[in-house]
Amino acid sequence: MPVRRSQPHLFIAIFLCFFAFVGNVNATTDGAKLFAIHCAACHGDKGDGGIGVPLTLPDFLTSVTDEYLFQTIRHGRPGRIMPAFRHLGDEQIRAIVEHIRSWAPKEVKLIPGRIQGNPEKGREIFARYCARCHGPLGRGGTGTGVNFTRLHNLPIVAPGLNNPGFLAAASDDIIRTTLLRGRRGTPMLPAAKMGLSEQDVEDVVSFIRSFEKQFQPAGKPAAAPAKPALIAVSTKPFSETVERIERAISARRLRIIRKHSLDDGLVAWGEENKKQQVIYFGSIRQINTLLAIDPRMGLFLPNRITVMEQDDGKVIATSINPLRFGSLFNNANLEHTSRELHDTYMAILQEISR
Ligand code: HEC
Ligand code: HEC
Repeated sequence: MPVRRSQPHLFIAIFLCFFAFVGNVNATTDGAKLFAIHCAACHGDKGDGGIGVPLTLPDFLTSVTDEYLFQTIRHGRPGRIMPAFRHLGDEQIRAIVEHIRSWAPKEVKLIPGRIQGNPEKGREIFARYCARCHGPLGRGGTGTGVNFTRLHNLPIVAPGLNNPGFLAAASDDIIRTTLLRGRRGTPMLPAAKMGLSEQDVEDVVSFIRSFEKQFQPAGKPAAAPAKPALIAVSTKPFSETVERIERAISARRLRIIRKHSLDDGLVAWGEENKKQQVIYFGSIRQINTLLAIDPRMGLFLPNRITVMEQDDGKVIATSINPLRFGSLFNNANLEHTSRELHDTYMAILQEISR
């Protein structure tokens, strides 16, 4: 009996539809539309916040320039959740900025500095007054702040300040103004309420500026992206390969959640290809931990490994590569977890290749 293969033309058709759709919206310079497509999922339909900070607050809009908004969208916040939008044209980004401004057309009023700051003093002040929210080194709060017990539209984790995207976008005046004014409606208080003097503020601004010196010079090639999938060739026949993988999963105290044919539900009942099985596994604790770090992890949970016997009789097992999505999500907190997951997958896959 010939082994049935999946239907590549179906997937190609779906992909073409997808690109036709993206191609269409690609050209638009309608700020509202662009915001809905690129930003609303995180910042809320009306910019009132979600996984991303609220963008409508008066204290925010009066303390940042159009240039700041433009650069923040262009560069994102590398290593944080906020992506860079390198593929959008200047005109499109300007349209998004205009749309953000349309929510609360308030005059931008930055507060200029008059005194000289001392970054060393700023370091101490930062440790005392800022680190508990922004992290000891200014890398920002951890996680998305979104979890099962927290409402979606509450002010979220403190942004990273030790961040090339933030520092490229924010002038000294913007940082100073944010400190002096605070952001009413969020946990970020005005400096006076925190008990800081004008000199303290100047010192902290200089300290935050000094972060810039630690960044790698631009132009250094980024590490090559990890392969999207992990693949192992089995030395055993199909059913023994499946058994070995199941044993390896259980040995790691992970539970096998379910197992079905790859084409289950796509073909008539009883017609499934029994030589292509997907094994789902995980633990509730692992799932909760990962979702708290980044809700988008839900796309890849529970863990799954697919075992397939090919036409030539060779048996292979594949999984996604967690290192790849760790980098896609631009979330530094995922780095450690995706490394751990990667090692777990690798260890399980190695059980079949010896
Ligand atoms: C109680 C927690 C908390 C403390 C303490 C705190 N911040 Fe914040 N900070 C936040 C939050 C939350 C935001 C994001 C506000 C928003 O959603 O607009 C923020 C925003 C900022 C921003 C704007 C960042 C951006 O991306 O726009 C700067 C700059 C900043 N804080 C600096 C400081 C400094 C310096 C201190 C110490 C003097 C400090 N913060 C203390 C919670 C805090
Ligand atoms: C995947 C989620 C996500 C998407 C998509 C996203 N953002 Fe963000 N954005 C964030 C997060 C999270 C932050 C806070 C940065 C941090 O934690 O360091 C942020 C920060 C910002 C800031 C800085 C706010 C401040 O307080 O200074 C602006 C401005 C912004 N985003 C605008 C946008 C716009 C406009 C878009 C669409 C073109 C967009 N974002 C898309 C998650 C997102």
